[in-house]
Amino acid sequence: MGYKRYAFAVIAGIAAVFALAMHAGFGRAEDGAREAASPSITVYSGRARQLVAPVFESFERETGIRVRVRYGGTAELAALLLEEGDRTPADLFFAQDAGALAAVERAGRFRPLPESLRRTVEPRFVSRASETGGGWVGVTGRARTIVYNTDLVDPAALPQTLEEVLGGEWTGKVGYPPTNASFQAMVSAMRARDGDEKTMQWLRALRASGAKTYANNTETVRAVASGEVAIGLVNHYYALRMLTESPRLPIANHYMGGDDVGSLVNVAGAGVMRRRGGTDATHEASERLIAFMLSEQAQSYFATETFEFPLIAGVEPPAGAPTLERVGAGTIDLGALSDLEGTLRLMSRAGVLP
Ligand SMILES: [Fe+2]
Repeated sequence: MGYKRYAFAVIAGIAAVFALAMHAGFGRAEDGAREAASPSITVYSGRARQLVAPVFESFERETGIRVRVRYGGTAELAALLLEEGDRTPADLFFAQDAGALAAVERAGRFRPLPESLRRTVEPRFVSRASETGGGWVGVTGRARTIVYNTDLVDPAALPQTLEEVLGGEWTGKVGYPPTNASFQAMVSAMRARDGDEKTMQWLRALRASGAKTYANNTETVRAVASGEVAIGLVNHYYALRMLTESPRLPIANHYMGGDDVGSLVNVAGAGVMRRRGGTDATHEASERLIAFMLSEQAQSYFATETFEFPLIAGVEPPAGAPTLERVGAGTIDLGALSDLEGTLRLMSRAGVLP
């Protein structure tokens, strides 16, 4: 028998055995056996391909674990995970907002995380439910900040709370992107801290003070750089990124002190999905991927490439940023940011959404 015919016979034999096994209801055991030999996992990534694909690729090279990725918006993938329930093909959810992670967690979709992973980052960046129920862990930090025009604004006069942004000398000089997910997460944090009524008042006052709306963070920071507005309510990494490209732009970040939600540190983070067809091998592979994203190598990559804050000790903050200890509303429970729909309703009633 020639090689080809022999190979064909073997394949036909395997196929017959496989078909029999399926028929007898052993399909799942067969899947499990194949996965143990060469695990492969599916990631739902709310982070853009150009930012995170290199991380997944080095993980594949180092571990031999294959990573399939479905890219999409963080809120949209969270909604999909809730809809799919335990029939989801996703082994891991990588999101760029703790609110989306909290919504998935609240629906009971995450598996518990091993202690080794939970202890890698500060407690404020780990879901409070991750020990007992299922949960998520932060991978990188994304701070809210006030970006200001250094030609127009005296740093000593900058607001120290979001209340101070309203009216007075800032009338007509503030820019913000109401449709941006990170701005909305900040509003959710304000609701969690102050309640809906006070938050509604703040939003209405912001609008009444002549604050200008922009399509996104980039447009807001550009408007600050051009002097169209003096300050902008954005995420920290936009100014850092623009300054590496054009170091002479007259912009800088101001991090508010204390616990103001204007300096909220949100996270990009990940959790392992509970799903039908998940095996010890896929769970372990998913946890390894999270551990890899929290390795020095990946954390330095994020700090240099996405200008986000590393969450493990010993890795330098992004160029031009202070260390995370000097930023941030540390007492806000990121798990309380899950009600995006409620936030959108409130923003819409306050008239700040287009
Ligand atoms: Fe962003």
